[in-house]
Amino acid sequence: MTIRLAGILAGLGITAVLVFWSLLPGAYNLAFGPPAEKPAYYVFKEKPKAPEGGFSFDGPMGKWDYAQLQRGYAVYKQVCSACHGLKFVAFRNLEDLGYSEAQVRAEAATYNVPGIDPNTGEAVLRPGEYTDYFPDPYPNNVAAAAANNNAIPPDLSLMTKARNDGSNYVYSLMSGYTDPDPEKLAIAQEKGFETPVGLYFNPYFANVNLAMPPQLYPNLITYDDGTEATTEQMAQDIAAFLTWTAEPKMIQRKQTGWFVIAFLIFATGLAYLSYKQIWAGKKPKKK
Ligand code: HEC
Repeated sequence: MTIRLAGILAGLGITAVLVFWSLLPGAYNLAFGPPAEKPAYYVFKEKPKAPEGGFSFDGPMGKWDYAQLQRGYAVYKQVCSACHGLKFVAFRNLEDLGYSEAQVRAEAATYNVPGIDPNTGEAVLRPGEYTDYFPDPYPNNVAAAAANNNAIPPDLSLMTKARNDGSNYVYSLMSGYTDPDPEKLAIAQEKGFETPVGLYFNPYFANVNLAMPPQLYPNLITYDDGTEATTEQMAQDIAAFLTWTAEPKMIQRKQTGWFVIAFLIFATGLAYLSYKQIWAGKKPKKK
């Protein structure tokens, strides 16, 4: 009895010390710390917005919209591929978007990928093949930085996974270039905010000034399926395409989830029945 009591007291004591210890820094900052001064650009900072109507792959019942993925690929090829690579995607993966093998082979051949001249062994560019991965637009980071005002355009294969709320982020970033709101600008400038020469204002980017110039404007490209190429449409399509590149098996994952839940419910039923069975003769009869 006394040992049990001592144990409980010791446990409570340790818990109290740990709780106190974990709250101490917070309490100290609250009492004595300076109020956290947010940098000037916070005046503009926006959370990513979802496109109107959301994405077809949102939610547990989501599905790819293949026409949209194909449009997004067109945006990537005609606009983004000039600066951004897609190194984790192979041409053959494009078959998942609904292209035939012959179409994919023809598509691959429209790219130049680094290769070797079989006769001299020198590095050359050759037409892409079915099994090649998307080539990087620049030979190395130095060249990439030199061509982009010292900023390196990141590879886009996993971009929607690398940013919080990635699909909506890419949509918002690409359609979100604006002039800064004059009222907010006045407040921010008091704190020393400016958009340096060569950078562009975009309230969705981490520090609202980024080195990528605005890319999308109405009717920049012509869609094969006749969809009107508004800025929002293209931004939504490229965001969907980059969601696919980052997680091509997303829909299978969601569908497997349903199957797993159904199986677990079934297994729970079985477990309950066997519990009933095993204990059937063992329980004391009620009098
Ligand atoms: C002229 C070259 C160029 C083109 C074309 C271009 N970008 Fe960029 N992009 C850049 C540069 C440079 C950066 C790095 C910006 C920085 O770090 O300030 C960047 C950064 C990005 C980022 C990362 C932002 C972040 O959160 O770090 C995304 C996403 C992006 N671009 C998407 C696109 C998409 C989608 C397209 C096609 C519609 C595209 N870009 C076309 C140059 C380009």
